[in-house]
Amino acid sequence: MSETCMGITLRRRGRIFPELSAADPRFDLGLEILEKDHQDLDQVLDRFSTVANRIIQLIQIDEAAARDEAQQLHDSSQAIQALVARHLSDEEELAVPIIIRHKLRG
Ligand SMILES: [Fe+2]
Repeated sequence: MSETCMGITLRRRGRIFPELSAADPRFDLGLEILEKDHQDLDQVLDRFSTVANRIIQLIQIDEAAARDEAQQLHDSSQAIQALVARHLSDEEELAVPIIIRHKLRG
């Protein structure tokens, strides 16, 4: 499970963001959506890694096949970039208004 952005797992979130959860009940609902993104991100990163490793192996035995696979890797990197950009934006839109509205500080 990815823990690179808000670092959320269902098991741990109450300990990580108790002030946000207590300040606005909509925060926990938003976390459900963000957590699904984390699971999706794990899958696309795993696919990216698998294809990248295959290309590294192919380049030694079949450079043309490696070049064909490189397009998949490029497509995968674009999908990852789009998912992460949207996810980080969603995280900000979820957390920042609650922090500002309730004057919460770290
Ligand atoms: Fe996140």
